[in-house]
Amino acid sequence: MKRQLGTSELQVSPLTLGTFAIGGLMWGGNDKKDSIEAIRESIAHGVTSIDTAPFYGVGLSEEVIGEAIKGTDRSKVEILTKFGLVWEQDVKGTVAFDAQIDGKTVPIYKNGRKENVIREVENSLRRLQTDYIDLIQLHWPDVETPVSETMEAMEQLLKSGKVRAIGVSNYDRALLEEGLQTAQIHSDQVSYSMLNRSIEEELLPFAMEKNVGIIAYSPLERGLLTGKYSNGTGTLSSDDHRNGYFQQFDPQKLNTLLQALNDLASAKQCSVAQLVLVWTMNQKGITTVLGGARNAEQAIHNAQALHVQLSDSELNQIRSFIQN
Ligand SMILES: NC(=O)c1ccc[n+]([C@@H]2O[C@H](COP(=O)([O-])OP(=O)(O)OC[C@H]3O[C@@H](n4cnc5c(N)ncnc54)[C@H](OP(=O)(O)O)[C@@H]3O)[C@@H](O)[C@H]2O)c1
Repeated sequence: MKRQLGTSELQVSPLTLGTFAIGGLMWGGNDKKDSIEAIRESIAHGVTSIDTAPFYGVGLSEEVIGEAIKGTDRSKVEILTKFGLVWEQDVKGTVAFDAQIDGKTVPIYKNGRKENVIREVENSLRRLQTDYIDLIQLHWPDVETPVSETMEAMEQLLKSGKVRAIGVSNYDRALLEEGLQTAQIHSDQVSYSMLNRSIEEELLPFAMEKNVGIIAYSPLERGLLTGKYSNGTGTLSSDDHRNGYFQQFDPQKLNTLLQALNDLASAKQCSVAQLVLVWTMNQKGITTVLGGARNAEQAIHNAQALHVQLSDSELNQIRSFIQN
């Protein structure tokens, strides 16, 4: 049932819990009790891999995971975290974007420097209350740091046993090829959904050829592909980044897709969200799919997608809905 991540020793569940929303920042906040329940229920229902990042809630997402898994057999859970998006103003790097932290506008930096990689991993280990990380990933490419420097830092962590596997995120084919010249990168975490299949052209075939696992993020397009936001974003709070994010999608095209998915989901006695997750998990070259969930109900519902089977003809039928 679990899947091998690239050439690493690490096995991950086909669905991984995404905890960006659990951090609250940019997602209109979140309730800690709900977050802890989401994590515990995911694990209890077979979603044993959890993806996070220091940036998610500026430390909060990792802290909540640490609390939620305390007392759990560590060997039964895989923790995937990242480094390279820095909010500490004494560290700096290349300005990536601004975030609202505690009511202040703060620049967030990209930083793949070796000393920063080592520093961030120590902080993550402390927040997660663990002595190893299953997969460490560079969150975003940092153009000011040589790719080889970041790869060497991750290899050092691998040798020390502090991490079990090394990966990148948001790397295109060219960057992945460059990174592979220094280190055996195990995975690339990239955006991939029914509405965003750009990786299918170059990155995905290259990653398959090189045996680099692809970790697909935002498969539900941040909630849009559950169908619950098809009538607009009126229910989102003003500090939720999705007010802007959702604008890129054509509402008419989206509704046509959701209708087609809804008909198939009804016939299969599952939900649209489950159908979307299971379709994404079954695409060639995709090792695991990150499904975000912010409470127990969403977590259990998504985990149940692991039991939904799609035949080849159903997979092709869905692809016919999404071909432009
Ligand atoms: N590497 C990167 O740069 C990067 C970027 C983005 C994401 N990620 C990772 O990928 C993960 C997943 O992506 P994502 O969180 O952006 O988006 P997603 O998984 O596409 O969507 C998550 C959202 O969908 C809604 N949802 C999920 N399950 C639901 C259910 N069963 N019923 C109703 N609504 C449901 C929730 O919306 P509500 O909040 O409205 O309830 C949830 O917050 C992240 O958590 C993070 O770990 C990585």
